[in-house]
Amino acid sequence: MTPTNSPVRSIRRLAFLVASIPALVHPSRADPVPANMPDWLEHTVFYEIYPQSFCDSNGDGIGDLKGILRKLPYLHELGVTGIWLNPCFVSPFQDAGYDISDFYKVAPRYGSNEDLRELFAEARRLDIRIMLDLVAGHTSDQNPWYHASQQAGRNRYTDYYIWTDSVWTWNAPGVQVVVGGAQRDGNYIANFFHFQPALNYGFAKPDPTQPWEQPVDAPGPLAVRAELKNIMRFWFDLGASGFRVDMAGSLVKNDPDGRATAALWHEFRAWMDREYPDRAMVSEWSQPQVAIPAGFHMDFLLPYAKPGYKALFRDDNGRKPIFDRSGGTSIRVFLDEFEPLLAATKGKGYIAIPSGNHDTTPRLGNGRDAAGVDVAMAFLLTMPGVPFIYYGDELGMRSLDGLASKEGGYGRTGARTPMQWDNSPNAGFSTAQADRLYLPVDSGGDRPTVAAQLDDPGSSLSITRSLIALRKAHPALGASGDFETVIVPPNSWPFVYRRAKDGEEILVALNPSGKSCSAALPGTFTAGGLQPLAGEVTAFRHGTSGWSVVLSPESYAVVKVR
Ligand code: NOJ
Ligand code: CA
Repeated sequence: MTPTNSPVRSIRRLAFLVASIPALVHPSRADPVPANMPDWLEHTVFYEIYPQSFCDSNGDGIGDLKGILRKLPYLHELGVTGIWLNPCFVSPFQDAGYDISDFYKVAPRYGSNEDLRELFAEARRLDIRIMLDLVAGHTSDQNPWYHASQQAGRNRYTDYYIWTDSVWTWNAPGVQVVVGGAQRDGNYIANFFHFQPALNYGFAKPDPTQPWEQPVDAPGPLAVRAELKNIMRFWFDLGASGFRVDMAGSLVKNDPDGRATAALWHEFRAWMDREYPDRAMVSEWSQPQVAIPAGFHMDFLLPYAKPGYKALFRDDNGRKPIFDRSGGTSIRVFLDEFEPLLAATKGKGYIAIPSGNHDTTPRLGNGRDAAGVDVAMAFLLTMPGVPFIYYGDELGMRSLDGLASKEGGYGRTGARTPMQWDNSPNAGFSTAQADRLYLPVDSGGDRPTVAAQLDDPGSSLSITRSLIALRKAHPALGASGDFETVIVPPNSWPFVYRRAKDGEEILVALNPSGKSCSAALPGTFTAGGLQPLAGEVTAFRHGTSGWSVVLSPESYAVVKVR
């Protein structure tokens, strides 16, 4: 905990005040982004809500839609204008709802379709758009489509899933075959866990010796595509602003270069551009150079697929994160991965950098003090592309170790604990008995809460709020603004980069390490100097030998050049 009157706290308070100064100049908005890109993405910051754990409105121990509705004013005040809601549909919840048994119905434990419609409408009133989770690749094995499909006689759903031609055919390379148990003589292909049978989008190159591998344009795969479009239309028409697409790159099987899957999404994007041009999709693909040309508006960087992204905030094979007090890992590890991806996607779509998500432990707040969380947020909220904040990361909430697996969470469970609102029972998440909660709340005496941080201008919550406001106020900080590195010391700090758009130019300097740092700043700047916008106000200095950047331990600075 930072003592009330420490210098660090005073600096952070000042940082907040500076960040609240509105931009003095609003350059014109000449738009280099593609014509078919919804313009609201330019300044949207998303907030991921795991519905189980956000707010329980009826005291049954599990979060719900009315709970989210109740907390919309909090999100509005934070300044986020987008929500990604994890699956909230009817499900046996063996994989936390990523095992859907009715794609057209909200799970009763969360409320009703009518509650979701109300949530969409109320959120929009507060300028917040909600994206749902589209689990396109598989269903639960308790879905009625699957029950019909596994029957011996042919019916409408026979080819909705991928079935081998005999129960004795179980060696199929590159796919996961689940053997036995069906009435029909065959085995199904699972997508993730065994109870998640893969929907049949066909094979890019069906093996002629395996006649059960259907081409992508066979009647079964075409019917599944039509169903997927129908699901999307259904939720668009109720008010959804888009979808996060689960495992988006793996729909078509035996598609090593992803081309057939990309062609499918291309068709969906063309349809959206025609009929729902203001809606957006973000893919769980983590190959932006493939996903964006395929039609996604945004693609996530994810730790399991992108080691440079993982290195930002999390240990990797004993190596400390880049954003760490030890300061030992170079930002180069991230940039070497990121810069080519940015170059490949510029002007076509956005890279989405998340603070974390429901699959990722530890959380941003683990092993990082408040100042460390703030520097990480300063980075996330000033980078190009579209930032996603995982619920609670704005507080520096920590994931919990050693929890029993819940709903197929296994090692992910600790990142899914209830949001910490205040210090009332269950951290204000629910009025249920503690033993009836979806997951235990963090019981640590120093756990961060909204109540403790809301009115403290130096808190991570306030800093995050001010950085979101800053991003929204400055064209240069938007999703499509240019990004260029200015100072990248190989193994030290500060890291300095330039953002620019529509004639506005901003510099960002970061020092996540526990030591102060300085570097010469190349370039000449006007006599008026650089106007501080956020963070350490004295960081950019002019002396006899020119301009330099000087940063205290775990600090950042954002200045306007013009
Ligand atoms: C990715 C989701 O994020 C994860 O939570 C889920 O278990 C798998 N896809 C399977 O749907
Ligand atoms: Ca509830």
